[in-house]
Amino acid sequence: MKRTRIAHALTLPAPASGLLLKGWIRTVRNGKNVSFINLNDGSNMSGIQVVVPGELDGIEAVRKLTTGSAIEVVGDLVESQGKGQSVEVQATKVTTVGRANEDYPLQKKGASFEFLRSIAHLRNRSNTFGAVFRVRSKLAQSIHAFFSDRGFVYVHSPIITASDTEGAGEMFRVTTLDVGNPPRTDKGEVDWNEDFFGKPAYLTVSGQLNAEAFALGMSDVYTFGPTFRAENSNTTRHASEFWMIEPEMAFCDLSENCDLAEDFVKHLLRTVLDDCQEDLEFFNLRIDKGLLERLTHVVDSPFERMSYREAVKRLKDSGQSFEYPVEFGVNLQAEHERFLTEKLVGRPVFVTDYPKSIKAFYMRRNDDGETVGAVDLLVPAVGELIGGSAREERLDVLEDAIRELNLEPEDYSWYLDTRRFGTAPHAGFGLGFERMVMYATGMQNIRDVIPFPRTPRNCEF
Ligand code: 4AD
Ligand code: MG
Repeated sequence: MKRTRIAHALTLPAPASGLLLKGWIRTVRNGKNVSFINLNDGSNMSGIQVVVPGELDGIEAVRKLTTGSAIEVVGDLVESQGKGQSVEVQATKVTTVGRANEDYPLQKKGASFEFLRSIAHLRNRSNTFGAVFRVRSKLAQSIHAFFSDRGFVYVHSPIITASDTEGAGEMFRVTTLDVGNPPRTDKGEVDWNEDFFGKPAYLTVSGQLNAEAFALGMSDVYTFGPTFRAENSNTTRHASEFWMIEPEMAFCDLSENCDLAEDFVKHLLRTVLDDCQEDLEFFNLRIDKGLLERLTHVVDSPFERMSYREAVKRLKDSGQSFEYPVEFGVNLQAEHERFLTEKLVGRPVFVTDYPKSIKAFYMRRNDDGETVGAVDLLVPAVGELIGGSAREERLDVLEDAIRELNLEPEDYSWYLDTRRFGTAPHAGFGLGFERMVMYATGMQNIRDVIPFPRTPRNCEF
């Protein structure tokens, strides 16, 4: 007999006989003549009600089953007599696969997210986290569908790299040297020539430079993989290890880049609205009351676009007092970004053309000499969801930008080759996957949308 996933069983017309279900017990309730088990196998939120008649062979063992135990049930799908479900399973055989000890930590409803983080290896068995990780999985799958439908090539950019793409110096070093006793140069400095790769190496902060090389040859490409940032920021929106989707398009300008980003975000939200209804209704009820209305509204209305200059002006004119004052030339802080998208605009907004002094070296210089063709997408409740830009395709301008940062163009020689051999205007962006999951679910802490989160001073599991 073949196992039926519970989500599928619930779609079958009742009555249907001889189903085999396997899963974990969420609750057991023993009545006088029957026992009720709520069985869940992760395929949906509700699980299925299993009714075990008192005269069943081995009923004594069933009555002693504990929450969390793994069991197999053979039975018939029938219309339910009780409230709360339309169908249920009338068991003809129940077998214990793996008993859960009495101290199973997921006994009660309403455990705090903080407590559940301390049992990240078990929390996928709770309603909230089962839903989060189903939505996360659906989003990941629909990312590939979106790009595949548009003819993009999926590129695996390297995890280990020697380049600091963002130039922010927030990289984790990768080394096999003996940290207690590293080889030294004549000057007494650590001799990275002796290290595994013969030079300093790090975990990547972004696959962008590699994606650019592929875009300038394969036209439309994207990466989707883990990225790493050793920034010591303990916020609800930053993780040390997170996933990023980075499309890169040749013969593309900033405005077409925004068009793709808008289509992409809407596609992802539409997918979860269509395919994860039960989970989204749960989030709307328990986590974020305005979620469904907000997402539906976002999918149906155009995103706003404004320049950084305009954004600064509107923030200043708003009369709102911010902890960090806002002026042309400053980095927008989370408080500014949230106020802009939530209060001033009331929906997602692309902010473009930032001062060159606060953005990365690869961004395309605008004719005003002051700004670059950068774009951030800010969304209510989350803040910055996307960062991207038009790339500087002019070799001499790019070399100057590198020198202005006191870096050596020679260190970027492979990257500059793409500007030497058939350069072309191109643009791309990075969407933070966890922030997208937060946006789609209403979850408020990035630690609660990653299976096993890594943050400063936290590398459990
Ligand atoms: O704005 P960022 O730093 O841009 C880049 O890395 C570019 N190279 C992307 C590109 O143009 N191809 O990061 C992109 C996005 C941010 O908008 C944010 O959503 C997310 O990645 N992000 C983080 N998410 C979680 N934790 C962190 N520490 C993050 N840092 C950035
Ligand atoms: Mg950014």
